[in-house]
Amino acid sequence: MPGQDYQGAERFLPASEADLGAVASAAGSCRGCDLFERATQTVFGSGPAPASMMLIGEQPGDAEDRQGKPFVGPAGRVLSQALADVGVPAEGTYITNAVKHFRWREDPRGGKRRIHERPSPWQVRACMPWLGAEIERVSPRLLVTLGATAGQALFGSSFRVGAQRGGRLTWRPPAETTASDLPSELVVVPTIHPSAVLRADDRDAVYAGLAADLRAAALVLGDTG
Ligand code: URA
Ligand code: SF4
Repeated sequence: MPGQDYQGAERFLPASEADLGAVASAAGSCRGCDLFERATQTVFGSGPAPASMMLIGEQPGDAEDRQGKPFVGPAGRVLSQALADVGVPAEGTYITNAVKHFRWREDPRGGKRRIHERPSPWQVRACMPWLGAEIERVSPRLLVTLGATAGQALFGSSFRVGAQRGGRLTWRPPAETTASDLPSELVVVPTIHPSAVLRADDRDAVYAGLAADLRAAALVLGDTG
């Protein structure tokens, strides 16, 4: 945490010439914040590079922490289905998270289950250099943020999913993450986190909303392609 030994991911980044594989392996030994201490492993992004669409979640969940890949658990299944429904197969997209280690707490009822805990704003900031390094190397034309944490990672604490989902926002990569061939602005379409579908009373309606937002995202690619 701030004031202790953790100073963010910046000093673990490899040189700017490093390719995505080298960045991923450097992220494997990141100690930029306290989250590596209790997680199994770093969960870096996955997918083709370059890719026109990059999807950004919050952080790995229990299944991702064990398997080392993003969105391989229940939320990932919802997301893959919704992408397929709107004609954007998940395999064609690059998928990652704002935070690369699983933050969890013990089950207060004494069970073995590890309970997801939202990363703090400080942890999200600490991890941003990895996301910047991925964006530089994947060179997407469009970012899709899934849920509040990913939206706030890009736009700060005033970002609200409910108000901004499905619309087109503009994100300017910070100067220090701007590779020469990266556009100075990227289109972002925010949507809800796919796990919201799993928690909802009316799953069908929430799923339809997610799919509608992803359809709006797919249209951006049609318009700018
Ligand atoms: N939720 C996320 O935000 N990311 C994952 O990788 C899995 C679940
Ligand atoms: Fe590094 Fe991010 Fe993991 Fe923190 S969460 S240790 S900044 S990779």
